Order: sequence, then C-alpha cells, then structure tokens
Amino acid sequence: MPYDFTDQVALITGSGGGLGRAHALAFARRGAAVVINDLGGARDGGGSRDGGLLEEGTAQTAAEKVVQEIIDRGGKAISNGGNVTSETDMQAMVDQTLSAFGRVDILVNNAGILRDKTFTKMELADFEMVMNVHLMGSVLATRAVIPAMQAQEFGRIVMTTSSSGLYGNFGQSNYGAAKLGILGLTNTLKLELFKFGIRVNALAPVAATRMTDDIIPPQMLALLTPESVSPAVLYLCGKDAPTGEIITAGAGTFARAKIMESEGLFLGLDATPEMIAEHWEKLSDMTTAKTYRQGSDQSQKFITNAFENMV
Ligand code: NAI
Repeated sequence: MPYDFTDQVALITGSGGGLGRAHALAFARRGAAVVINDLGGARDGGGSRDGGLLEEGTAQTAAEKVVQEIIDRGGKAISNGGNVTSETDMQAMVDQTLSAFGRVDILVNNAGILRDKTFTKMELADFEMVMNVHLMGSVLATRAVIPAMQAQEFGRIVMTTSSSGLYGNFGQSNYGAAKLGILGLTNTLKLELFKFGIRVNALAPVAATRMTDDIIPPQMLALLTPESVSPAVLYLCGKDAPTGEIITAGAGTFARAKIMESEGLFLGLDATPEMIAEHWEKLSDMTTAKTYRQGSDQSQKFITNAFENMV
C-alpha cells in the first residue's frame, strides 16, 4: 500500500496545533513515527525564545500534548521545541530524530506566523520576521534533513505555501513574499534532489486554525477542517509521489496549481513598446499556455523563436 508509512519517520514543524497537528495525527494513524516540532509561540511569532515573550515553561506544551494524543492512540511520537529560524535548533531536531528513530523519511515544513499590515504601514521588522520563519525556517529544516535522506536515497519534503503567495492577499505582502519564495525553493530543489530519491512538493492549504479564525466567516470555518487537508500531504509523501507539484486543498476539494506562460509572439530584436501594445491580445493568449520544468526551457523557447523567424 503506497500510503502506509509503517517504519517511516515524519518530522513536522509547527505541529503543536492547527494543520501541523492534523498532518501528524494522519501520519501516525498510518504507521509513521512522528516528530512534533513546535516552539509554542503566539500567532504573530511573539512566542519565539529570541523574542523572549513566551511565558516560562509553555515552550513545549503544545508539542507535548500532540505527542500524548498520538501515544494514547497507540502511535509513536516525540516532541521537539526547536525554533525553525535557528540552524542549531534544526540540526538538533534532526539529531534527536535520528537517535530516537534511526532515520528521517519525511519533512513537512509547516511552521508559520502572521504579521498582517498594508505594505506602507508595515514595520520592516515584521516583514523580516515573517520571511525568516516561513522561508528561512523551511531552508534550515530542509538543509538539516537532506544528508540523512541522501544517505537513505529516499526522502519526501512538503513545503507549505499559500494562496497569498500564489495570487496575493491584501495586507499580506510579507507573508505572500515568503510563501512564493518557498515555491522558488521547491522549484530548484525538485531538480537538485531528484537523483537522491528525494521528492519536493508544496501544499497550499485553507483551514480553520488560529491563523484564520478572525479572517474567515464562522459558517465557512466549520467546513474548513485541518483534517480535510492532510490527505494531500500524505499523497505528496507516498512512494509514488510526484515532484515539483503544488497541491491546493481545503474543505474537501483538492486541485493542482501551476505557474504557466503564454506561448508568446516573436516581435523581433528591435521590437517597440507600441508593438507589444498592438499585439498584447495575441502574445498574452493563455489558451495555449505551457509550464516549464526549469528556467532554461523558457530561454530555449526564445532562442528557437528567434531562429525560426530570423534565419
Ligand atoms: P497555526 O498558527 O495553528 O500553526 C502554526 C504553528 O507553527 C504554531 O503551532 C506555532 O507555534 C508554530 N511555529 C510558529 N513559529 C515557529 C517557529 N519559529 N519554530 C517552530 N514552530 C513555530 O497555523 P496553521 O493555520 O495551522 O498554519 C500552518 C501552516 O499552513 C503555516 O505555514 C501557514 O502559513 C500555512 N497556511 C495556513 C492556511 C490556513 O488557512 N490555515 C492558509 C495557507 C497557508
């Protein structure tokens, strides 16, 4: 069964609540040993140890509670209170995982915070903090697990992106930038890690969690269960997982998102803005749009078009 995770080890950042907890319970139910990482912070990240705003002694409570839930249901789990923005903490998390379970097959980069404000009113510190937790947090956790995954010649990494990064959301320039940055990371890692048996994909979820409880109307929140999103993560971690894909998931609907480009139109090396305006309809026609496996495939299109039209 490709979605049986017995003898596999899944590490999920920010899994002390919300979506991460739902993913952890889903993996544990299908046999995985799970590492519950969470520093137990507030929604805006004010709980980070560096920020010093966390109440003494609460740092691991959220993670430990989820561990207990898993153990009570007959599963295997350990907790880790590391901060995803700390390289030392992420290395320690992987070391702890390897000494407890001997391997790490799955990493779900899920930890996140929100600091919403319109761009011009936003403090730069809030921009940087959100970039740091989402983007650098995903970078640091991923770097820490790669050596073990390479040695095993097997790994599944799921990044957590967002519709905010894919399409934009008012008041979320920091969050959207970080979430689209995560897709840039995914697009390159899918190329670099494939030969090691490591597949890297992204999830764009929508769920009722503390992150959305004051953003989404209450009658919609009831449908948006975190548990309804987790099957997408399990799919991306199966033996036959794709790589470089984006799955969107919410309230029982699953879809694929893609960055696409129109075929375009060769206007010549001496093209003018007036020509672009004149031909906009044709060159922007998305009915024959394509996606590319890597950036150089797009360059190839430009060169081929030029050759075909000029030579
Ligand atoms: P949440 O706030 O319930 O969960 C995030 C968890 O990450 C919290 O338990 C928090 O303590 C932990 N965390 C925060 N900073 C951390 C750090 N530096 N180190 C370790 N742990 C840290 O929120 P939710 O909704 O479950 O979010 C999970 C992921 O899904 C996030 O990446 C979020 O951006 C993403 N997402 C959620 C959406 C939604 O509709 N809920 C929509 C799109 C994306």
